[in-house]
Amino acid sequence: MASKITKAVIPAAGLGTRFLPATKAMPKEMLPVVDKPAIQYVVEEAVAAGLTDILMITGRNKNALENHFDRVGELEATLERKGDTERLEKVNYSTDLADVHYVRQGDPKGLGHAVLRAAMHVGDVPFAVLLGDDIIDSRDILLSRMIDVQGERNASVVALLEVDPSQTHMYGIATVEPTDDPDIVHITGLVEKPAAGTAPSNLAVIGRYVLRPEIFGILEHTAPGKGGEIQLTDALQELAENDIAGGVYGVVFRGRRYDTGDRLDYIKAIVQLAVDRDDLGKALRPWLRDFVSKMD
Ligand code: G1P
Repeated sequence: MASKITKAVIPAAGLGTRFLPATKAMPKEMLPVVDKPAIQYVVEEAVAAGLTDILMITGRNKNALENHFDRVGELEATLERKGDTERLEKVNYSTDLADVHYVRQGDPKGLGHAVLRAAMHVGDVPFAVLLGDDIIDSRDILLSRMIDVQGERNASVVALLEVDPSQTHMYGIATVEPTDDPDIVHITGLVEKPAAGTAPSNLAVIGRYVLRPEIFGILEHTAPGKGGEIQLTDALQELAENDIAGGVYGVVFRGRRYDTGDRLDYIKAIVQLAVDRDDLGKALRPWLRDFVSKMD
């Protein structure tokens, strides 16, 4: 039996330039999606899959992240004094969610470099990587399936999503062959953000990975790739093409995923999540219909 995976690495050192000026003094991971910072959805997803040891790879300007997952004495005391137990619970919930550790990336040399910064904390066991720009709907299963597949195949596993061919230049794209499991593919190649018209498929890597620790040794010698950055995709490509350390498999996700990586997708994510909420959806849906009907 494979040992249980408990460690999750969350890279959160990006500059968030697409959201300036909102991200001038605040990390983009703290932007609210409805009423929770984007990063909290990701930590909740990790915890729901049994990953309670979280390592965030941060950079400058990221104090708000650490504060969010820590106690905030004055606020707790004020809410207690007022007897506002509902809000107090919300505050305590994010504090108690997980055991969160931090390491700083130093130079912003890319996702592969950020993941390599986790080597010491992770050690010699498989671990998950969750990228904060992708939110997976908590009603759909992805990470726990990936963890199972990692254990069964003793390989590294990435999440794949079918995207429109016009979108492939924004993702890592996989070359795959089928397996006996309809939702699992064997990955024989990966390319980071291929130029339009050159993608080997329309299966895009979305920001969830369950990796064997051998990836660290590969990342140590991975040369800068796309954009001059050390790419996680390039290190995975080395595992995939040479079938090293069990090779790489993909779990094809067919559930709901919300992208918060750019302004338009971020707005869509907020609307999609809010209309489904018990406390907001009932009022938002008729307003939205009315607003759209009058739009032209
Ligand atoms: C990163 C990865 C890319 C992946 C994407 C998923 O790119 O490098 O392979 O497809 O996340 O969101 P980024 O969006 O950070 O540029």
